Amino acid sequence: MINYGRFIGKVASRRQPSIIRELLKILQSASPDMIPLSGGLPNPAMFPFKSAAVTLRDGTTLDISGQAINSALQYLPTNGHAGLLSKLRDLQVRVHGLEHRDFDTCYDLVTCNGSQDGLSKTLEMMINPGEPIIVDDHTFFATMGVLDPHCASYIPVETDPEGMRPDRLWQAISSRLRPRDPTAPKVLYSNPTGSNPCGSVLPAARKQEIYDICCEYDIIIIEDDPYFYMQFGPREPSFLSMDRDRRVIRLDSFSKVLSSGLRLGFITAPHPLMEKIVLHLQTSALHASALSQVSDVTVVSKGVVKEKFPESPRSSWTSSSVSGVTRASTATCTPSSPSTSADEISCTQQLSDTSKDSASGHFPGEECSSGFES
Ligand SMILES: Cc1ncc(COP(=O)(O)O)c(C=O)c1O
Repeated sequence: MINYGRFIGKVASRRQPSIIRELLKILQSASPDMIPLSGGLPNPAMFPFKSAAVTLRDGTTLDISGQAINSALQYLPTNGHAGLLSKLRDLQVRVHGLEHRDFDTCYDLVTCNGSQDGLSKTLEMMINPGEPIIVDDHTFFATMGVLDPHCASYIPVETDPEGMRPDRLWQAISSRLRPRDPTAPKVLYSNPTGSNPCGSVLPAARKQEIYDICCEYDIIIIEDDPYFYMQFGPREPSFLSMDRDRRVIRLDSFSKVLSSGLRLGFITAPHPLMEKIVLHLQTSALHASALSQVSDVTVVSKGVVKEKFPESPRSSWTSSSVSGVTRASTATCTPSSPSTSADEISCTQQLSDTSKDSASGHFPGEECSSGFES
């Protein structure tokens, strides 16, 4: 059984719920005739918008009107739009093999303003100034952008064309730390699919090894996976799908499959950790854009986002870069749940060149005294 308190940073542990935000959850199920005076909800009849229509590239028009436009223009509970949350929970069940009851017992799911928002809230919830974090030896520059001001002490682990090497991870941890040591790294950040900037895809077997090491050393895995739905061929199973211990925080994004301008992502995390992330969201953005969430649920409900990326036989991959994504020919694959359901998020565009940020995918100098740990 995980002691989640160990993973919550000092600032996050001081966060308290906002009564107004908690009340809003209750008001969602109140009669529409009720005029709540507690939460500063504007009267939607005063808004100039009556409806919104979105025309898709195939000519389909989606109308957002009536109750949908009202909720798109009103404050939402911090967790997100109820209809969208329910669809997203279904998605996590289908794609990552969770069970619906997991959302009652151990995980929670919330929407956020793009996965970057979820990432920064997650990292800031866990990392105290100077604390260590395990990362790939070339990691996402915006992750360091969050961590550098906290003077995080990076433990970079050697990666090859298949991503982080489990043997090097084991060495990096065990050579300097004993299991359960209070100075042990408690967080591993991974961008397993089409990793930014290197483009590698972590195969299932490696993921399982990394997961097992994290169990042994009681480490939480942050799985930042915006390119998951853009994999050629069958998808590699996620860390979330292996999460027997409940130690994975998964960040998903709509940016690469619907639109980055919607600024919509979602976090799936164990309840005690999510609680602190939500408390941070309660005092920052309040919630992800309601208009984006309602547009999204409309698009997803109509089964619009169902065009799958053309499947290619895995054997045809080489370890050279394909559309910016480096894949190894030896990669084996066990899809967790090969779902083709109509409303599953999947891919509408070509995988972008993830190597574009490579210039910044290195570690900064040692301005912070806790500095760079290698
Ligand atoms: C690894 C990684 N994480 C997070 C993000 C941010 O995505 P979002 O638009 O959902 O905030 C990106 C964007 O390129 C990314 O490459």
